[in-house]
Amino acid sequence: MKVLVATDKPFAPSAIKEIMPIVEDAGYEFSLLEKYESPAQLIEAMKDANAVIIRSDIISETVLNEAANLKIVVRAGAGYDNVDLKAASAKGVVVMNTPGQNSNAVAELALGLMVYAARGLFNGKSGTELKGKTLGIHAYGNVGKLVAKIAQGFGMTVGAYDPFVSSESIEADGVKVFDSVEELYSSSQYISLHIPANEKTKKSINYDLLNKMPKGATLVNTARKEVIDEEGLLKLMADRTDFKYLSDIAPDNAGELLGKYEGRCYFTPKKMGAQTAEANNNAGVAAANQIVNFFKNGDTTFQVNK
Ligand code: 3PG
Repeated sequence: MKVLVATDKPFAPSAIKEIMPIVEDAGYEFSLLEKYESPAQLIEAMKDANAVIIRSDIISETVLNEAANLKIVVRAGAGYDNVDLKAASAKGVVVMNTPGQNSNAVAELALGLMVYAARGLFNGKSGTELKGKTLGIHAYGNVGKLVAKIAQGFGMTVGAYDPFVSSESIEADGVKVFDSVEELYSSSQYISLHIPANEKTKKSINYDLLNKMPKGATLVNTARKEVIDEEGLLKLMADRTDFKYLSDIAPDNAGELLGKYEGRCYFTPKKMGAQTAEANNNAGVAAANQIVNFFKNGDTTFQVNK
């Protein structure tokens, strides 16, 4: 039995040190592919793998078709929009994620980006503070919940919109529940995005929605670039000279945005949200344990393609 860790963006070495013995103690072979140059290299490495641990690596139908022995793919992280679930299901391959394991890292970065925006991208001029400002959390999952807690520590007034989470559990955190996404945006000086990228959410953050935000608004995106209507955002940045956009995932039109609105937008050079040793260790170890549990006990608790 071969378990492959295939991560174009490598885990911290400490994570690999923890993953390897979990795999080997279970009696399986451990294999590592990092920073690969092409999908062909990934395909080659996956040819004889029975299980694979990935991050944002693209597991397409082509990749799956070439992996004859593959039984399980575990995305060490939350979002699984990088895996062709339909193709995996058709081939009888189980796909799992490791929800919550890297959430704190992403939440800390979201607040870091808010501070950076409030301080004028460290331009040396007088900025503002987060204390007393309103923050709207768009989707109250594992990351959203942590963002709320940290933001409350900063003294922000926090609200959330998430039709999939009960109002009671949001209110129990001292967070105001908004019944519509429009209300959330019109009531929030800062918005932090935590929605997944899927057919319903793609391009859903558009001009009209963003234009509802009050004067001096900031949008922080540590979710996915696909949820933004990039043309709408470009137009909004032109129409609203008070608006700031900071993202952990550079949009396709990043060059144009930065060229025209330098000082009001910022994109991390590489997706950094989950890039901490702690998050890597937590997600990597969880993924390895889930694989062992799947093979030894048939446990499919975190399967996302049921
Ligand atoms: C996730 O979905 O877990 C985050 O976006 C992190 O992705 P990464 O593992 O590619 O950094």
